[in-house]
Amino acid sequence: MNTQVRIYPDPVLRRVADSVENIDESIKKLIATMFEVMKLEGGVGLAAPQIGVNKRVIVISIDEKGFERFALINPVIDFFSDRKSKMEEGCLSVPGIRADVKRPSKIVVSGVGRSGRQISLETGGLLARVIQHEVDHLNGVLFIDRISEKEKKRIFEDLNMLINRANSSVR
Ligand code: CO
Repeated sequence: MNTQVRIYPDPVLRRVADSVENIDESIKKLIATMFEVMKLEGGVGLAAPQIGVNKRVIVISIDEKGFERFALINPVIDFFSDRKSKMEEGCLSVPGIRADVKRPSKIVVSGVGRSGRQISLETGGLLARVIQHEVDHLNGVLFIDRISEKEKKRIFEDLNMLINRANSSVR
């Protein structure tokens, strides 16, 4: 399996990922690979499209409480709080760029765990933020789509550098 993290503006990052029908060996292998890549790259979350796999699978690894290391298959956010908070985000697929993103502070997310168990989780803080960021990836949305015009202007040159780098790389 290719473990190269896809970098903006790679079009695979803009696709809507397909639901997982069966949690078979290929999905378990995908999840294991995603955990490896996330650890290697030092990320707190990773979505399958980021390694070029167009499936609705995310993995999360947050040190906060120890147990927040899990995979979610076909995650759905069932509730977003009206209250929003702002936090700086980055993304392995948008290297070198960080920007403030406003998102709902609390969510309820459901999905299927690695073992096939149905999971429903009410959460806030960093975990809620990372889950929203990763679910966005499954819909072809990047954090840079969700920032203020002011932030967009500030990172414009850096984004252009990534675009130029992609255009000049030998394939
Ligand atoms: Co990301």
